[in-house]
Amino acid sequence: MGSNAENVIPLLTPYKMGNFLLSHRVVLAPLTRQRSYGNVPQPHAILYYSQRTTKGGLLIAEATGVSDTSQGYPDTPGIWTKEQVEAWKPIVDAVHAKGGIFFCQIWNVGRVSNYGLQPNGQAPISSTDKGLTPQIRANGVPVADFSPPRRLKTEEIPDIVNDFRIASRNAIEAGFDGVEIHGAHGYLLDQFMKDQVNDRTDKYGGTLENRCRFPLEVVEAVVNEIGADRVGIRLSPFAAYMESGDSNPEALGLYMAESLNKYGIAYCHMVEPRMKLVGEKFETPHSLLPMRKAFKGTFMVAGGYTREDGNKAIADNYADLVAYGRWFLANPDLPKRFELDAPLNKYDRETFYLSDPIRGYVDYPFLESSTSVST
Ligand SMILES: Cc1cc2nc3c(=O)[nH]c(=O)nc-3n(C[C@H](O)[C@H](O)[C@H](O)COP(=O)(O)O)c2cc1C
Repeated sequence: MGSNAENVIPLLTPYKMGNFLLSHRVVLAPLTRQRSYGNVPQPHAILYYSQRTTKGGLLIAEATGVSDTSQGYPDTPGIWTKEQVEAWKPIVDAVHAKGGIFFCQIWNVGRVSNYGLQPNGQAPISSTDKGLTPQIRANGVPVADFSPPRRLKTEEIPDIVNDFRIASRNAIEAGFDGVEIHGAHGYLLDQFMKDQVNDRTDKYGGTLENRCRFPLEVVEAVVNEIGADRVGIRLSPFAAYMESGDSNPEALGLYMAESLNKYGIAYCHMVEPRMKLVGEKFETPHSLLPMRKAFKGTFMVAGGYTREDGNKAIADNYADLVAYGRWFLANPDLPKRFELDAPLNKYDRETFYLSDPIRGYVDYPFLESSTSVST
């Protein structure tokens, strides 16, 4: 890849992330696919993930529940039961067999849920008891109504932190190389960070420091459990999905970037300000540069990236790694296509969340195997 100096493709240069030697910078972004029936990862995920694996490439698994209160969509995987951990193993093994590095994204959706997805039909948990108004998903399908959440009591929060700790241990038990804590997109951690949502008056609400306390406690617990070099976090300070805006996103992003430095985690993954809504790009004067500069570890960016602006982000040292969502979903051999500057398959939004184990999942074509490598 990029064998002579003039032809170097920045995205395809190697990168050392702590103990992990990555052969290129094109990361598979976490992508919920809703094909894990009954919250158990299925054998068809073996093919899906291994199709997207390259030797030395980093993959982030779809958002995976840390407990029975963490689910907000049908058929998303979990990692809190023995059965789920066992079901992940062959999927992780397949990625490792091809030389990939595989992190598991762990989440609790908080109030982005409803009674039907909660144990015993209970209310979803959150930082608040303010409910969400019904929303339309990026693929245009109306999402089921959200049920009003229950505000977690101060003394319950250590139990939720503990769910993340145990899930991270389970992820390592399943063979994953690490975990990405999902602190983005209006789910539970974000419901604490963002002042549009968090209306608490205890030590987890009010000031920026207080609002970031719970997410940082999760980071600390997970770091203590599995080691900092196996921990990443995803944040979207500028996004306002699920009514989770903040009045000062730049201060929030900077505070988190600086606070994370003390844990020495493997990476910080931030979603571009232009991704205000899932799957739509907006012009914005904001940039992640201040956070990139503040964070001392590996900095990963995502959101609306093409081959061209991904290369620019790496060349300009704006980021170390670029995560690709929709293009990687539709192009299992995305790094190869970037290498060759080959045309990309279009993605089909209609099949993003189908429960079909093949359609829109493992049937996106590879480049013809006869295509010769240019360098
Ligand atoms: C089908 C689909 C599922 C997604 N699921 C997740 C998820 O589980 N966790 C997450 O953090 N982001 C999720 N996202 C957001 C992507 O990781 C990514 O940030 C977003 O698609 C923007 O990047 P892109 O322009 O390269 O697609 C999802 C996006 C799509 C399109």
